[in-house]
Amino acid sequence: MAIQCSLVLGLLILPSSLAWTEPVVASSFNRSSFPAGFIFGTASASYQYEGAAKEGGRGPSIWDIFSHKYPDRIIDGSNGDVAEDFYHRYKEDVHTMKELGMDAFRFSISWSRVLPCGKLSGGVNKKGINFYNNLINELLSKGLQPYVTLFHWDLPQALEDEYGGFLSPHIINDFRDFAELCFKEFGDRVKYWITLNEPWSFSYGGYDEGILAPGRCSKWVNGACRAGNSATEPYKIGHHLLLSHSAAVKVYKKKYQAFQKGKIGITLVSHWMVPYSNQKVDKKAARRALDFVLGWFMNPLTYGDYPNSMRKLVGRRLPKFTPKQSMLIKGSFDFLGLNYYTANYAAHVPVANTVNVSYSTDSLVKLTTHRNGIPIGPTTGSSWLSVYPSGIRSILLYVKRKYNNPLIYITENGVSEANNSTLTLKGALKDLKRIDYYYRHLLFLQLAIKDGVNVKGYFAWSLLDNYEWNSGYTVRFGIVFVDYDHELKRYPKHSARWFKKFLQK
Ligand SMILES: *[C@@H]1O[C@H](CO)[C@@H](O)[C@H](O)[C@H]1NC(C)=O
Ligand SMILES: *[C@@H]1O[C@H](CO)[C@@H](O)[C@H](O)[C@H]1NC(C)=O
Ligand SMILES: *[C@@H]1O[C@H](CO)[C@@H](O)[C@H](O)[C@H]1NC(C)=O
Ligand SMILES: *[C@@H]1O[C@H](CO)[C@@H](O)[C@H](O)[C@H]1NC(C)=O
Repeated sequence: MAIQCSLVLGLLILPSSLAWTEPVVASSFNRSSFPAGFIFGTASASYQYEGAAKEGGRGPSIWDIFSHKYPDRIIDGSNGDVAEDFYHRYKEDVHTMKELGMDAFRFSISWSRVLPCGKLSGGVNKKGINFYNNLINELLSKGLQPYVTLFHWDLPQALEDEYGGFLSPHIINDFRDFAELCFKEFGDRVKYWITLNEPWSFSYGGYDEGILAPGRCSKWVNGACRAGNSATEPYKIGHHLLLSHSAAVKVYKKKYQAFQKGKIGITLVSHWMVPYSNQKVDKKAARRALDFVLGWFMNPLTYGDYPNSMRKLVGRRLPKFTPKQSMLIKGSFDFLGLNYYTANYAAHVPVANTVNVSYSTDSLVKLTTHRNGIPIGPTTGSSWLSVYPSGIRSILLYVKRKYNNPLIYITENGVSEANNSTLTLKGALKDLKRIDYYYRHLLFLQLAIKDGVNVKGYFAWSLLDNYEWNSGYTVRFGIVFVDYDHELKRYPKHSARWFKKFLQK
């Protein structure tokens, strides 16, 4: 490990002044360093990209309502009404992907754009179907494979209003119907389906911390929350997400897969967890932290039930699967999508707080980005994201060992810089730290593949700067810069040119 680390450092020599036409890439490390057929792409999500929030018959989602009703809970008070205007500009953006040499594009379908009321009985919005048909056809005509996420957090508000969205088991049938509509309409051309994006973030952000839509939590966690219960709701949400996932997979496998010949999976996220100290309790805390973030979903998906550590610590607040549900969830994926960005320190918490109980306190782990004032890696535009490249290899090896060596796609990996209004455009495009980030993560990914982890593709987050949820437009994750002051004009950053060189065939 130490030898490979220093090798990585030795290879990466970035001169401080870099002509934008000549991105630096070690010429010996490029696309051909990955197995034949390995695919590269970029990833996106409907609410973060599309805009056109009130156009083409789209119904409101919980993100429209959350961002408009509580602008104070979004750092810059912004929303996704316009976002990157991808709804109107997708052709230009697909062209850029092609120019960069990308093989695939991951996007999500806005549920309320195709079903404005959330359910089939409320009517299918033909204009929404047309938009995704046009996007899919445009991608295929440029030789790009669509990887389609069904749920990337923008639940139709109608279902939130009617029964509390994923808090209710009613969501399972409605999600299944939405998924089936997508298989029926798009499955002749879409061969990679991702049911859910990061159920952990949706449960934790939306119901434990209350920082993501619908913004529910216990008052003691976050005074901005009007309602919620951080001790119980995150677990209900996680449970119904898993049941919804397995219902969608069941219908795909039963009615569509044999003739559409696609694959279906789920995207999970996990930070890598580094023990705060060499003490045994901290090492155990790091494993427990992985259970509470990744195992929460991956254990049911692999073994049919939640991790023992969660059963023990959460007790009766953790819902139970019936034997039938357990069977249905176990093995319900052809591939695992894994999102990796960063690592945390995990420290053991010796005494349970019995007064303020929440998902976050249940694990008896304190997660931090710093130790003794020193960050776990170079800091970025996002406070939660310090650069920790070897973590991508560590988490992949962990998944291989613990979860029976599944087929994996890295469905997100990327880094942000702060939106900096004092920078010139030229300065803003010079994202050398991002090049460094991608280079190092791809090196560690390649090492993991050499270690025998079954990874078949990699998606960078993201092609464009975009609406970063409760951070609004204050951080930029794109390899292409979007000028929000001048009609959303797009400019490739240095990292885009780096990818182009890296991907050259
Ligand atoms: C990619 O790397 C290989 C060695 O791994 C090298 O032979 C080839 O020339 C490189 N391709 C480009 C386009 O730089
Ligand atoms: C519980 O949380 C409240 C609000 O943050 C705080 O004032 C109180 O001290 C906490 N109690 C315990 C025992 O942690
Ligand atoms: C913004 O850019 C200026 C000029 O390069 C730099 O001095 C400053 O530190 C940057 N601010 C942030 C928050 O990155
Ligand atoms: C982002 O930066 C631009 C200048 O590039 C500035 O005009 C705009 O107000 C900034 N937006 C936010 C949300 O900070």
